[in-house]
Amino acid sequence: MPMKNIVLIGFMGTGKTSTGRALAQKLGAAFLDLDQEIEREAGMAIPDMFAQKGEAYFRAREHEMVERVAGRRNAVISTGGGTVKDPRNVAALRENGVIVCLQADVETILERTASKGERPVLDKEDQGNRRMAIEMLIEERRELYRQADFSVDTSKLSPLQVVEEILHYL
Ligand code: S3P
Repeated sequence: MPMKNIVLIGFMGTGKTSTGRALAQKLGAAFLDLDQEIEREAGMAIPDMFAQKGEAYFRAREHEMVERVAGRRNAVISTGGGTVKDPRNVAALRENGVIVCLQADVETILERTASKGERPVLDKEDQGNRRMAIEMLIEERRELYRQADFSVDTSKLSPLQVVEEILHYL
């Protein structure tokens, strides 16, 4: 019986990509990072896509990519922080997958997302408002992230420790 996919959802800076890579390695499974796949296919970095084509264009590309990867088996799939905004994405990913939400406290998210130019959704806000922007977005998306089968707080954990937590729950 093939293994279900393991799908990592959660806010920016909660460790979806680093945990996903480590988890896939541990399980000997394929690793797919939605953002990286979108960038590869478009030949364009996501911040440039936001700037040149707008968020709606990115969300459409994101949805297409979800449709494509959701049919896989034995894969660890890391999503982007906003993938859950489209209910069709969650439904498609759930069909073959266990959904795990990674969480972190605001302080940790601030540290992990500090470099400029990588997170267009946060870069819209000036530095002084970044904390508030993060808090508001987390609040706005709280119910969406709750759709996960279980959650892990990654604030004080290394990616390998998060992997152990996930394997413990599975
Ligand atoms: C987004 C999160 C990003 C990326 C895009 C939009 C969001 O992914 O998909 O910039 O809306 O939260 P990460 O969570 O991997 O940073």
